[in-house]
Amino acid sequence: MSTQADGSLSGRRLLVGVTGGIAAYKSAHLVRLLRTAGAQVRVVMTAAAQSFITPLTLQALSGSPVRTRLLDPGAEAGMDHIELARWAERVLVAPASAHFLARLAQGLADDLLTTLCLASAAPLWVAPAMNQQMWRHPATQDNLALLRRRSVTILGPAEGEQACGESGPGRMLEPEAIIAALADGFRARTLEGCRVVLTAGPTREAIDPVRFVGNRSSGRMGYALAQALAGFGAAVELVSGPSGLEPPAGVTRVVVESALEMETAVMERIEGCDLFVAAAAVADYRPEQVAPAKIKKSEGVFTLRLVRNPDILARVSALPGGPFTVGFAAETERLEEQARAKLVGKGLDMIAANQVGGTEGGFEREDNALLVLWRGGQRLLPMAPKTEIAEQLARLIAEQYHAQATGQDP
Ligand code: PMT
Repeated sequence: MSTQADGSLSGRRLLVGVTGGIAAYKSAHLVRLLRTAGAQVRVVMTAAAQSFITPLTLQALSGSPVRTRLLDPGAEAGMDHIELARWAERVLVAPASAHFLARLAQGLADDLLTTLCLASAAPLWVAPAMNQQMWRHPATQDNLALLRRRSVTILGPAEGEQACGESGPGRMLEPEAIIAALADGFRARTLEGCRVVLTAGPTREAIDPVRFVGNRSSGRMGYALAQALAGFGAAVELVSGPSGLEPPAGVTRVVVESALEMETAVMERIEGCDLFVAAAAVADYRPEQVAPAKIKKSEGVFTLRLVRNPDILARVSALPGGPFTVGFAAETERLEEQARAKLVGKGLDMIAANQVGGTEGGFEREDNALLVLWRGGQRLLPMAPKTEIAEQLARLIAEQYHAQATGQDP
């Protein structure tokens, strides 16, 4: 069994609560994934949950009897509910209905799951799932605010199409995202107390009200890194260009459009920050003039005059007493040579270089490979999903940041 603080779920004791909602069908996949990750899982279902999925399904997937009643003579003879509350290292309720959140906020203990939530000293995590109007209702929002004040971790919800035919916030996070957040919660919090500002995604440089100069960055690499750094305990502020991605749980996001807006957002937040990570693909140039109305086509060649944008990373690394700075280098050729030139030229503490423009890794793709350079060392992170690469890079950043702060080799 792995109990080291490495973010592994292997051997972890997880109590999974399932409440009544259509998203209850996703809890079957969640339990299966948790077991595949090596976790020990005990499932508790509310009465309403059993209208959507059977205890037998979750029993088969969790490998343990499913508990549904507070005072179940058979179960109390084995692991009684107080023992179950003590056994759990984490309590995760997914899906958590609006009704369940209200009962939790009130401190009710009128069934097994609410009783366990009160009786367990383990951190409580909930993944809400409900109709978007129910989610937006002030009663639900007040309940959530109260639960947050009591240190309950709220995972999601996601936005999008709902089973009821409406669209908006209220979908339960996908099981994979819940598992990633849980794993973060078990990881060694080596960046606890650190403030991180991180840029991600593309910038858009307006030509006229409807057109812009942009690039292919999806934001995946930067968002994955924001999540990984937050998982190490850092307070992460993500300054993001336009991206279709949801902000990772626990990360504060500010959305900007242009390089100039990104520069302002970064400089407003940089004072007192410990780490600055520049994963954004910032446009080096912007149109000299932004046409106030849509430019009409005309005969002949159209010439667009571009002027230089400020280099945000270089500006931050030049700040006296500034943060530990980590840049990225996106190169189509001579990767190491050009990345090293940026490391030295921009006065960085570390640079993560990726080969772009090919068929693998870099912009828009799910996977990436990085050559990470710092003064006195380098490490190759071979091609893997960006979430995994981000995890490895975050660990390297934490090591080098602490090594510099203490003047010792990691
Ligand atoms: O978003 P994805 O689709 O997941 O793709 C990920 C990525 C390829 C965008 C990412 O891994 C990456 O390489 N980001 C940096 C892209 C880039 O602009 O590289 P660069 O070599 O042009 O810039 C060097 C560094 O200076 C970068 O850290 C960049 O954020 C920073 N910079 C550049 C220009 C500028 N005006 N201001 C900056 O801060």
